Amino acid sequence: MTTNARIYLSPPHMGGDELGFVKEAFETNWLSTVGPHLDAFEAAMEAYLGRPCVALASGTAAIHLGLRLLGVGPGDEVLCPSLTFAASCNPVVYQGAQPVFVDSERRSWNLDPERLREAIEERKRLRGNPPRALIVVHLYGQTADMEAIEAVCAEHEIPIFEDAAEALGATYRDRKAGTLAPLAALSFNGNKIITTTGGGMLVAESRAMAEKVRFWSTQARDPGLSYEHSELGYNYRMSNVLAGIGRGQLAVLDERVRQRRAIASRYEQAFADLPGLERMPQAPWGRHTNWLSVFLVDRERLGVSRDALIEALAREDIESRPVWKPMHLQRLYADAPMVGGAVAEDLFARGLCLPSGSSLTEADQRRVIDVIRARVEQT
Ligand SMILES: Cc1ncc(COP(=O)(O)O)c(C=O)c1O
Repeated sequence: MTTNARIYLSPPHMGGDELGFVKEAFETNWLSTVGPHLDAFEAAMEAYLGRPCVALASGTAAIHLGLRLLGVGPGDEVLCPSLTFAASCNPVVYQGAQPVFVDSERRSWNLDPERLREAIEERKRLRGNPPRALIVVHLYGQTADMEAIEAVCAEHEIPIFEDAAEALGATYRDRKAGTLAPLAALSFNGNKIITTTGGGMLVAESRAMAEKVRFWSTQARDPGLSYEHSELGYNYRMSNVLAGIGRGQLAVLDERVRQRRAIASRYEQAFADLPGLERMPQAPWGRHTNWLSVFLVDRERLGVSRDALIEALAREDIESRPVWKPMHLQRLYADAPMVGGAVAEDLFARGLCLPSGSSLTEADQRRVIDVIRARVEQT
């Protein structure tokens, strides 16, 4: 008898060297928020992205400190796509500012440059000045339409912060996600393409910006013997133990991208004959990592709703989930301005994230496919 183990959406997938690095941290007693793994992990990411990096406790912390670096503060407005995870915009509120949400476009599901222009013009009309910054998000491993977004922001001199939490390994033209704006955040949360169990990184255009973030992330202690503080700090640094895991993971990033893309292609082939089950578009401007394999369900054509598929998968112990619930539909952000919304609402209503972990075997992926096909054929 075979027993089917639970299939998770996007579980951690170690490369092999991580445990050795963790052991080394124990053996050398670098069990702290300083140590050689931190230096080496940052240097390896800098070699990969070509920009200075600061290892932090989470991607959320990276967004928070990045917004502070951009001078976001009380009374400011910050633009952000509505279709994202709450961690993209919560740090706006940490800084006492207000998010302004913008709809998505259909080619990449990311921020719509036209709606962005409308949002900026509307806020200028209502408040006399444009929003302080834009957080651009690359959803599910695919970059946003950066050239169009940059052009709109340049007209109004609005700085861009890149939330690349879901997009490490993705590209826009020949540029890497994480280097498409002066500042970016990466996440190494347990479900990401590479993980440190929990963690993040701030990627900066200049070393001076990276140094400032490192200073704030370690309690902003001024140089000298006594504990002097002239700026507000945070305890946001990554642990040296976790940086060791990051070193092992970064070494297999390219392989993880290949694996995730192969999984998405296999789903697409397996569902090619099912009308009404369409893969998330692959925009022409870059490489989609397919961090998650996402499909849009057309209930009329498929004969089954997105939620019915989630339920059928759950009955077989297979984890799947809807696309992010847009921020403008959240109680927390009920009062925040929103420009457009129909696209984000449609993607939320019909979007399905399927198991996408790079360790997913072909046999397990077959199980997922078979459950979906059986549920469709049942109607
Ligand atoms: C788009 C997006 N932004 C930010 C984050 C926050 O990252 P972290 O969980 O490392 O704080 C995540 C994921 O968790 C995310 O998906």
